[in-house]
Formats: sequence, C-alpha cells, structure tokens
Amino acid sequence: MDKLVIAGGARLTGEVEVSGAKNAALPILAASLLCNEKVNLKNLPQLCDITTMFKVLDILGVKSCETEEEISIHPEGIDNFEAPYDLVKQMRASILVLGPLLGRFGKARVSLPGGCAIGSRPIDLHLKGLERLGTEIRIEGGYIEAKATRLKGNEIYLDFPSVGATLNLIMAATLAEGETIIEEAAKEPEVVDLISFLNTMGAKIEGAGGDRLQITGVKELRGGTYKIIPDRIEAGTFMVAATITQGEILVKGANIEHLGAVVTKLEELGASIEKEADGICVASREIRHPIEIKTMPHPGFPTDMQAQFMALATITPGTSIITETIFENRFMHVSELNRMGADIIVEGNSAIIKGASRLFGASVMATDLRASAALVLAGLIAEGTTEVLRVYHLDRGYERIEEKLSRLGANIWRKKDE
Ligand code: EPZ
Repeated sequence: MDKLVIAGGARLTGEVEVSGAKNAALPILAASLLCNEKVNLKNLPQLCDITTMFKVLDILGVKSCETEEEISIHPEGIDNFEAPYDLVKQMRASILVLGPLLGRFGKARVSLPGGCAIGSRPIDLHLKGLERLGTEIRIEGGYIEAKATRLKGNEIYLDFPSVGATLNLIMAATLAEGETIIEEAAKEPEVVDLISFLNTMGAKIEGAGGDRLQITGVKELRGGTYKIIPDRIEAGTFMVAATITQGEILVKGANIEHLGAVVTKLEELGASIEKEADGICVASREIRHPIEIKTMPHPGFPTDMQAQFMALATITPGTSIITETIFENRFMHVSELNRMGADIIVEGNSAIIKGASRLFGASVMATDLRASAALVLAGLIAEGTTEVLRVYHLDRGYERIEEKLSRLGANIWRKKDE
C-alpha cells in the first residue's frame, strides 16, 4: 500500500489542471450500454474507479480501446448481463449498470452494493423507481435479479433527490415505451452531463438541472463522441488548498457555474475568487471569519466538499459549525484531524470546530475518499511531517494529486508503506 508524506508549511502558488469529473464519467460509461454503436469519450480521468467501471463493462462484453485523445467503447457485443459482487464491492457506482441493462435488454443481475465508510447507502429509491417502469425485481443471495419485457414510461416521485437513483432511472427510461416524468430529480452538474451525453446520442430528455425531468422513450441510441465535464470537487479541493495555505492558484479548466456554494463560502472567509478565461483564480491572504456550513443537495453546499472545509475550519478564527445532512457517517476525518492537534467535537450530525488551532504532523489513516483529501490539506499546513496512510482511498477520486500539489510548491511525496 502507498502513503503520502507531506512536509507542511509551503504556500501554494501557480496553475493546476482539473481532470474530467469522476462522478460524470461513471454514469456516462454505464450509459454507453444503451448505445448500439461505438462511443468515443474525451477527458476521462485516470482513476481507480474508472478502471473498475471498465472491468464491469468488459465482463458484460463491452470492449474498449484507448488512444492519446480519447477512449473508444464498443457496446455492440454485449452478451452478459451480470455485474458480479467482487467488482460491485470495490466500487458501488457499478450499480449504475442496472438501469441501462434493463432499458436496452430487459434483464440484469447486479450484486447489491452494500454500504461503505460514509453510510449504509441503500438503493431503495433506485429499485422503487425501476418497478414504476415495469421491472420485476427479486433480491436473492445478495443479488438484484431484475427483468422486464419492455420498460414502460411512468410518473416517478423520488422521496429524496438521490443522485444515483436519478441517474439509474434516467438511463432506464431513455429506451422505455412512452413518457417518463421524474419529480424531485437530482440537479447535480454530473446529472446534467449524463443527460447531455444521452441527448447527444439521440435520447429525448428535457428539464436537465431542474427537479422535474421529462424523458420520451426512443427506439435506440446511436454512437458518437462526447467530452466529460471538469471535476468540480477536485477543483474545489484545490481552491481550498489555495485558501488554507494562503496562496494563489489558477484552477485551470474548472467551471465556476458548478461551484456556486463553494465560491460563496470561500469569499465569506476572505478569499478572493476571480473567474478567468481558462478557469478560476483563488487568492487568499488572511482568513477573517469562522465557517458555517450545512451540506445540501445541489445547488446547496456539496457533501463532497465537507471534509475539505473542515480541515480549513481548524485554522479559521472563532468557532465553526459544519452540519452533514446527506450521509449518516461522514465525519471519519474528525478523529484523525484531532490527532494532528485540531479541536473538533461531533454532536449528532454537526461538528463544532474550535479555530486557530496549530496543527502538527502525524501518521494519519485515510478512511474514505474525501476524508483523505482533508488529511492532505491539513498536512499542507501542519508543523512537521504528516504521513497519510491507505492512499488508495485518495486514488479513487484524485488523479496524481501529489504531482499536481508538488507543481504548486507543496513538499509531498508518494512512498511505499512497508
Ligand atoms: C453520489 O453518490 C456521488 N457518487 C457521491 O460522491 C456524492 O456524495 C453523492 O452522490 C451526493 O452528492 C457518485 O456519483 C459515484 P445519493 P450516491 O444517492 O448516488 C440516500 C464521492 O466522494 N439514499 O444522492 O450514492 C443515501 O443513503 C462520492 O465522489 C437512499 O436512502 O448519492 C444518502 O444518505 C461519495 N436511498 C443520500 O440518499 C436510495 O435509494 C444521498 O445519496 C439512494 C440514496
């Protein structure tokens, strides 16, 4: 296993290029199952989760080949409809093949994804919505056995704007007979990107970015070429890196329209944020205020930026409060930050962070993707050396993060953890 070693104290300056969005690439890769011709994707990030999704597609009979500029996916030879436990347990987003397999072939056998570090992660909204479209679902031996002669459009009301349920149901409805309405749909930019991809391939989906989607089923989807949006969470993480080290970074390729809540919070803290022709420039001198954050579905403050802002809150003046409303166990980074000298207590789904702490380097354990990012950010400002163990969590969502941070002036190395 690898670890990251960070010598704190450097002020980060310069330019960093944002990679393609992991959480747009994963559903779009799954959606390629709906197409009956070759799909070329540009700006796919090089991440472990993307590799796992390609393994799932390969098992289903989808071949792919990589060129310099893009990856070609060939969904013409699909001959298997089962996503096995050993892959789904590695990456729960594999559940996103359920909708497209049912939509195009009327059958699927997908392992139940189970929970993960940040919560139980049920999929009841996915399954209820698929049943509304005419799917027969049986749970047997830890697998979802699903079949439908042909999915039929219907009205679906989501109890919560679940991103995953919205993605799966959009894909299932794309080739269904008739019209589907999804009320209380998720509005995240990654959902909008999936809809844009599907419409490029011939789907008829209206209402992207709103909470009511209208999907008119079509006979088939053609192939084509599509470029994935930039990763707003990677961009936000670098924006926090600039703020926490009181540096100045141009986050190239970032789309400021995807980061409204994050920009507002950083400006409240005293950071200056400028939209540039090729990205977002973040300059931070003195942080003047504590943070008050409540994570919400988009366009509210993103839960995937909660841990990073908690690292920042350890050094802001005053007492900050961060409330997590999306996942039930997304404060795993608190104990590790406290081991570095932070002063954070958790009460229910809120964390109270006493600011102006001095952080000291320590060996800390990454537990989930965004918690790992928070520990790296804390290591950048801690006195002394920090070792972040189990860096495979970080590699799931950040492409070569130590190289990108080094180029900004950070003293950070990847080492084998004996
Ligand atoms: C997606 O997860 C993202 N993952 C997550 O990013 C992100 O945190 C989350 O959306 C919220 O924005 C991918 O896109 C691959 P949800 P997803 O369905 O789809 C409950 C990262 O760090 N729920 O919106 O699983 C669920 O338990 C990852 O990149 C149900 O109760 O999120 C959770 O509490 C972490 N029943 C809440 O809704 C359901 O059927 C949000 O889940 C579905 C969800």
